[in-house]
Amino acid sequence: MKNLYRPIESVIEDIREETANIKTYRFRPKEPITFEAGQFVELTVPGVGEAPFTPSSNPNVTDTMEITIMEVGSVTDALAKMKVGDTVGIRGPYGEGYNLKDFEGRDILIVGGGVGLAPLRSLILALFDDIDKYKRISIRYGARSPADIVYLDLLPDWEKMKNTEVQLTIDEPHPDWTGTVGVVTVLLEDLAFVTTVDVDQLPLDTSNAIACVCGPPIMLKFVNMALLDKGFKPENIYHSMERNMSCGLGKCGHCMLGEYYICKDGPVLTAAQIAKFEDPF
Ligand SMILES: Cc1cc2nc3c(=O)[nH]c(=O)nc-3n(C[C@H](O)[C@H](O)[C@H](O)COP(=O)(O)OP(=O)(O)OC[C@H]3O[C@@H](n4cnc5c(N)ncnc54)[C@H](O)[C@@H]3O)c2cc1C
Ligand code: FES
Repeated sequence: MKNLYRPIESVIEDIREETANIKTYRFRPKEPITFEAGQFVELTVPGVGEAPFTPSSNPNVTDTMEITIMEVGSVTDALAKMKVGDTVGIRGPYGEGYNLKDFEGRDILIVGGGVGLAPLRSLILALFDDIDKYKRISIRYGARSPADIVYLDLLPDWEKMKNTEVQLTIDEPHPDWTGTVGVVTVLLEDLAFVTTVDVDQLPLDTSNAIACVCGPPIMLKFVNMALLDKGFKPENIYHSMERNMSCGLGKCGHCMLGEYYICKDGPVLTAAQIAKFEDPF
């Protein structure tokens, strides 16, 4: 039986700088690690500690795993100093993945903020692998400034995918930016609630669409309000809940939100599941 506590030695094969403090690492584990979009892993930097991250690579690729990581503290700073050829430990995956069967035949809205696009990238790549199963995919992404946009080189390829659109915004006006300005909720203003008529003419049919959201807690709060206001059903809005975690296995209680263990029942929870909590984010 697989020992879920055992970190698998994984060699850093590639490091790509996304922004000044965010890098995408490609790891090659000594044995394949399979995961579903939405699940997370615990990454150990030897001698420093471990922290939870959601892979940003395609779940259908198991011999390597990419993770996009922002430097914020001890583990992530130590990782940022590591080089190609160095070794880390990866254990997992943990939590529940998205139920992609439930996404079939529907419009999918992806809303990311900052490094929050990273966990959503594995979902986006999984959706692209089966693009004909979904009606339309709309990716709406907000970053602080042009220099804070992750996957800048990949976004044009995403836009070329069938029935897919990508919209970007930055928080404040910037001399290098001619696109939309404002926090990510400005990209949700065109969403429409339809009950009848020709839904194909509209940007998204919010009455039946799925929304997947990841970003800082304040963003989740305002995006949640905006989506409910636009007619999304609470059970169709999935939030990535990035709580502090320890065991990752539903044992230590570090990650609890009411009756939910975010590490086990999440990390993705629907707006319906968290509706009763005063400040779930
Ligand atoms: C399920 C899950 C998935 C995640 N996926 C990703 C991912 O794909 N990419 C990624 O970069 N991060 C991700 N995170 C966040 C990541 O786990 C933390 O940034 C990491 O634990 C920080 O560890 P550290 O030792 O470097 O910092 P610490 O030394 O533990 O913390 C240093 C400082 O950073 C602050 N801090 C800790 N966590 C966060 C946070 N999430 N946001 C802002 N400030 C924080 C602390 O309050 C403290 O002030 C995820 C978290 C969870 C729970
Ligand atoms: S992290 Fe230990 S119970 Fe969730």
